[in-house]
Amino acid sequence: DKGTYPFYMLKEIDEQPIVIRNLLARYFNADKKLQFGSEILREIKEADRLYIIAAGTSYHAGLVGGRMFEQWAGKPTEVHISSEFAYEQPLLAEKPFFIFLSQSGETADSREVLQQINVQGYHSLTLTNVEKSTLWREATYALPLLAGPEIAVASTKAYIAQVTLESMLAYAVADQSQLDFDLEQALSKIAVDIQGIVDDKEVFQKVAEELFVPATSAFYIGRGVDSAVSLEAALKLKEISYVQAEGFAAGELKHGTLALIEDGTPVVALMTQAKMALLTRGNLAETQARGAHAFTIVSKSIAKANDDYILPDTVELLSPLLSVVPTQLLAYYTSLGRGLDVDRPRNLAKSVTVQ
Ligand code: F6R
Repeated sequence: DKGTYPFYMLKEIDEQPIVIRNLLARYFNADKKLQFGSEILREIKEADRLYIIAAGTSYHAGLVGGRMFEQWAGKPTEVHISSEFAYEQPLLAEKPFFIFLSQSGETADSREVLQQINVQGYHSLTLTNVEKSTLWREATYALPLLAGPEIAVASTKAYIAQVTLESMLAYAVADQSQLDFDLEQALSKIAVDIQGIVDDKEVFQKVAEELFVPATSAFYIGRGVDSAVSLEAALKLKEISYVQAEGFAAGELKHGTLALIEDGTPVVALMTQAKMALLTRGNLAETQARGAHAFTIVSKSIAKANDDYILPDTVELLSPLLSVVPTQLLAYYTSLGRGLDVDRPRNLAKSVTVQ
């Protein structure tokens, strides 16, 4: 039931702080230690390489999680689109371990990969929102995302749940004495901070109406983990508003795509990584010199006076949990402003059961 909400998507965006709190309550025990069952952590630790397999928004969550496993836990990790992996399996490491990400647990492309690696005898973990789904049942291990039913076709809270649960797993297998943050505290603060961003709805409605509603194409750019969020931001915008949107690694834009920038083309820059922000600013300036209508979403500690939207600071690799929220709201209000059915965009189904 969507209650007083006009669309499920807005309700689900609003529920994101609760989703993080559900995961904190479920996976941290009374002593503030992470608990997943020793087998899962042992398998991840013993693997010499992780393979994260997913599609669409879940793939974008994987691109964030892969960085956490590598940078926090020192575990080499590859992130693959399931429909590609299924028909062109890369050479595998000696002791691979597979992590499947899926809101529905039924995505045919991901199921195909799981079937293949089961035949090959490899072990796997599924993170899904639907207990007893196919990907839940057929993987060696499974953990619930606890996001609650996601009804809108455009995935929002499941992405937040996936990134949060990946962060918990990566933190649990990392040598925590080498990390300079406490994950439980960081995630608790993020839940509060998402609430703050969601409370700025009217800001994003206005920006969406100015920037995206009249646009025919749009760009999101960022470096590092911000490039992963750019892909997700662009997917969300195009799927519900039908504005052709691209997410780009900011440094790559000048290698051809810059030709598409015209007077008024919206370019949104995401900047949460201190060591890359200056470079992204340079890339954004190149688009502005060609007439782009720029909008910046920047973490507080690296923000400048004329930035457009300031995000609270957090651990750099957790920043997607914050930076994705303005992009969800921008997509929502663009769809709304164009008079579209936000929850049921054309040509799409919630669960993609064909290959
Ligand atoms: C986009 C979206 C899709 C799904 C994709 C995978 O908003 O919802 O891209 O993320 O179809 O679905 P799951 O996660 O159910 O495997």
